[in-house]
Amino acid sequence: MTHAKRKILVTSALPYANGAIHLGHLVEYIQTDIWVRYQKLRGHECYYVCADDAHGTPIMLRAQQENISPEELIARVYQEHCADFAGFAVQFDHYHSTHSPENQYFANFIYQRLQEQGYISRRHISQAYDPVKEMFLPDRFIRGECPRCGAGDQYGDSCEVCGATYAPTELKNPRSALSGATPEERQSEHFFVNLADFQEMLVQWTNGGALQEEVTNKLNEWFESGLQPWDVSRDAPYFGFEIPNEPNKYFYVWLDAPIGYMASFKHLCDELGLDFNEFWGQESKAELYHFIGKDIIYFHALFWPAMLTGAGFRKPNALFVHGFLTVNGQKMSKSRGTFITARTYLNHLNPEYLRYYFSAKLNGRVEDIDLNLEDFQNRVNADLVGKVVNIASRCAGFINKRFAGVLAAQLPDNALYEDFLQRAEVIAAAYEQRDYARVVREVMALADRANQYIDEQKPWVIAKTPDEAALQAVCTQGLNLFRVLMSYLAPILPTMSEKVTRFLASPLSWTPEPLLAHHIENFEPLMQRVDPKAIEAMITDSKQSL
Ligand code: MSP
Ligand code: ZN
Repeated sequence: MTHAKRKILVTSALPYANGAIHLGHLVEYIQTDIWVRYQKLRGHECYYVCADDAHGTPIMLRAQQENISPEELIARVYQEHCADFAGFAVQFDHYHSTHSPENQYFANFIYQRLQEQGYISRRHISQAYDPVKEMFLPDRFIRGECPRCGAGDQYGDSCEVCGATYAPTELKNPRSALSGATPEERQSEHFFVNLADFQEMLVQWTNGGALQEEVTNKLNEWFESGLQPWDVSRDAPYFGFEIPNEPNKYFYVWLDAPIGYMASFKHLCDELGLDFNEFWGQESKAELYHFIGKDIIYFHALFWPAMLTGAGFRKPNALFVHGFLTVNGQKMSKSRGTFITARTYLNHLNPEYLRYYFSAKLNGRVEDIDLNLEDFQNRVNADLVGKVVNIASRCAGFINKRFAGVLAAQLPDNALYEDFLQRAEVIAAAYEQRDYARVVREVMALADRANQYIDEQKPWVIAKTPDEAALQAVCTQGLNLFRVLMSYLAPILPTMSEKVTRFLASPLSWTPEPLLAHHIENFEPLMQRVDPKAIEAMITDSKQSL
């Protein structure tokens, strides 16, 4: 099968630099990593970039709390995030920071272009101001009594008790969450992007096949309620980029965050000698995809295409939006021990269990997905250990011990092998559509057939007969079927795939020719069963790190 080589740039949303990566985040990074690995496996020119989202008030305040500079905080978190991603085999081509020279360059450049084209307006707004901290307060740093039900200590924008939403000015007895002072109303000048100027382009783009249906529907609701000017400036003190020629004014973190996609890619271009404009220029023929969670659709489907268009860049081909992770059917919770960080997980469990489990649940739609820990254990044990690895372990020993590690020169059942290769197209389409659940279903159905073949042939019975050739042939068949399955699973299980590559002394490729008269290495266990004690210990640890 021949196909044209595609040029593809892929991103995941940039995680905030003030907290640890947790299993919720990993839904996205694992989903993206699998897609990118699949594209690379198929020979496409595909790049995966990401970065830490290093700016904004929460990061500034967190650094103050820890008595360090924001630069020190983001440098430390950068190291932690990189280690967490590496632990889950999430392989970026480049991982950058939004607090970088490339990002400052592009933020200034894009803002300047928007200004030149007349897309920026200014006006004074009044906001809550903390006279003790001497700073304007974002809504969530104002606490007070709910104007509807009177519950105390509620956030500035919504009540956790009765669910009411309101403006922070409506709170009764408002207090600054930072100093406890009563906030004052103060005026300051802010800069806005006139989003409504882009309405026509946005309506077209969002209804033109770039988005999942659920996302398009959501956006059409927003269009109906009208596009408001977007406030892209913040007053000092702020941790971010100063707006050129506007003393004490900073770009709002969400202005420079998506520009971080470009900045990270620019860094990669400089490293590899790639042409930036081939990917971001108006005439680009390359494909551009952003993987994001459903909570940040507004930024990516409205603000970002508007910024790109206003500044003369291309728009993404598509946004790939996923839902949120729940654990045991509920929101992740620190007190239940289900707010599990990447690091805590890695201290107890094999990362490929999670890559597999998420795959079994991800179907390319915006639905939330649930990590049920009992199901997790059963699924991984039954499918990966019980079905897939089992095929290899039933055959490898005989080849290693009885045939000095050499496979037979022919397959006894070529038709069965061909049947396995026949599923490649369906599996490829499923990967392409991010329907990894389908990939897993297809592969497990084949694994059942491979095991059924071995059950019928009974190599352990042949082994007691003098028919050496038959034993070698059956085991050669089994190992080759296993190899096809592993090539289908390689994007999901990169670490196990590497082990298999070493064991079979041959690289995995999509729709491989069978390995015949070939010397393989000794079989070593590819994956252990999930230990329920390790899951318990992980939950206990998560409670303790409260
Ligand atoms: N910094 C912004 C993104 C800027 S992109 C230009 C941000 N950061 S985040 O750390 O809060 O989230 C990063 C990504 O992880 C987002 O796509 C978000 O939807 C996703 N998730 C965060 N928690 C999640 C779950 N519990 N479940 C699934 N995805 C989750 O938003
Ligand atoms: Zn209330």
